[in-house]
Amino acid sequence: MKEIPKEQHDQTPVYLGATAGTRLLNLTGPTVSDTLLAAVTATLKSYPFDFRGAEILSSQNEGVFGWVTVNYLLENFIKVKAVGLA
Ligand SMILES: *[C@@H]1O[C@H](CO)[C@@H](O)[C@H](O)[C@H]1NC(C)=O
Repeated sequence: MKEIPKEQHDQTPVYLGATAGTRLLNLTGPTVSDTLLAAVTATLKSYPFDFRGAEILSSQNEGVFGWVTVNYLLENFIKVKAVGLA
């Protein structure tokens, strides 16, 4: 809310990808993980951003998004080009 200029809030897409803990919860208590995702969805919809949904990421996608996030942060805040995660 603070970092993105107010006039760009409604054009800013937001996705929530739940990770390993929620993946595990979906195996042991799918009703609980569904309730959790519904609550998170309701909260995120209350913000002015363009909310595109909450879902449980596969472990493969979690790895890919983690790699992209680390490199994005390094490039933007530390000014290093790329880091390989083996
Ligand atoms: C929970 O796991 C089941 C079985 O693998 C899957 O079909 C379902 O899509 C999962 N729930 C979510 C919210 O991803």
